[in-house]
Amino acid sequence: TAIDKGTYPFYMLKEIEEQPLVLRRLQQKYFDFHGNVLLDDTLLQEISASERIYIVACGTSYHAGLASKAFFETLTKVPVEVHLASEFGYYTPILAKKPFFIYLSQSGETADSRQVLVKTNQLGASSLAITNVPGSTLAREAKYALSLEAGPEIAVASTKAYTAQIALLSILAYAIQLEKEDSQLNLLQELTLVEEAMTQVLTQKEHIHQLAKDFFRDTNSAFFIGRGNDYAVSLEAALKLKEISYIQAEGFAAGELKHGTIALIEDGTPVIGLITSEVTHLHTRGNLEEVKSRGAKTLVISETTFAQASDQIILPKAHPLLMSLVSVVPTQLLAYYATLERGYDVDKPRNLAKSVTVE
Ligand code: G6P
Repeated sequence: TAIDKGTYPFYMLKEIEEQPLVLRRLQQKYFDFHGNVLLDDTLLQEISASERIYIVACGTSYHAGLASKAFFETLTKVPVEVHLASEFGYYTPILAKKPFFIYLSQSGETADSRQVLVKTNQLGASSLAITNVPGSTLAREAKYALSLEAGPEIAVASTKAYTAQIALLSILAYAIQLEKEDSQLNLLQELTLVEEAMTQVLTQKEHIHQLAKDFFRDTNSAFFIGRGNDYAVSLEAALKLKEISYIQAEGFAAGELKHGTIALIEDGTPVIGLITSEVTHLHTRGNLEEVKSRGAKTLVISETTFAQASDQIILPKAHPLLMSLVSVVPTQLLAYYATLERGYDVDKPRNLAKSVTVE
């Protein structure tokens, strides 16, 4: 490939480590010197006047949509639905009278997403494609297009595109909020803090490597649990792990475990709890205790240390609405090191393609 992985053993590690830089590039591209957002006014007005936003995507991009729903609604006050393209394609839900579609796609070429765009274009609905490849099919066929500025992503397992999607959606949501009212948030400043927090997590690489070895080298299954945004990140954490390490991993809403899935917990089953919210941390802690007493090996990823600790990865603090950008980083590293320890090719997992152009 034209893109060199330099001294990195795998593209995936390089791309994980590029994330603070990508965040910086997004800030430079989408904010001016005075901190004003540089986005097309007609785009902002259209979204802000719409009745409902439909985010349509596949795979990791779908997970980025899920992780963005809460802040998008909080800032814009417009309801957001997040849909899998391959489902939406076969059953179109009853749409709001003024819908707005956002297509999230790293490649901009995913056939499942494109078929929905073709359909919503026929319906005359307005749309925005957020892709990492300017000039890609989705970018050309949607009414508006924005670029992720993540640089080429070569590893099949997507990492920097996911965080770039969430960050760009946060900038978009913030700009829409500013169309309507003053904001309490200084997003530019908060994104700088996120960038620093990501960098700090990256310095914990060796600790995370040890944990990955300890938790995942010899297991066949694993669970990631969390509530709210932590649940959204759990889904992505599990996908990353299963894609490349071939461990059967599931992301679960922490409170839902006891309604069935807890039956799968055996002696030594890894359960990783994501806890970045003050509101939910006691409950999720409780869920971890429940599985621990049934033999699970538990790991907490959180900004707060806890006394009767399981293993922990401590996260730096960032704005609560943006914590997904920070908490996902250690889960990417866990997947990466788990795969190294298990002896598989990190960048080229079996059966998977970087971009899927068939439905
Ligand atoms: C493929 C890749 C995934 C990716 C998904 C959506 O299945 O293996 O990593 O998340 O497509 O791709 P897109 O380019 O639309 O984001």
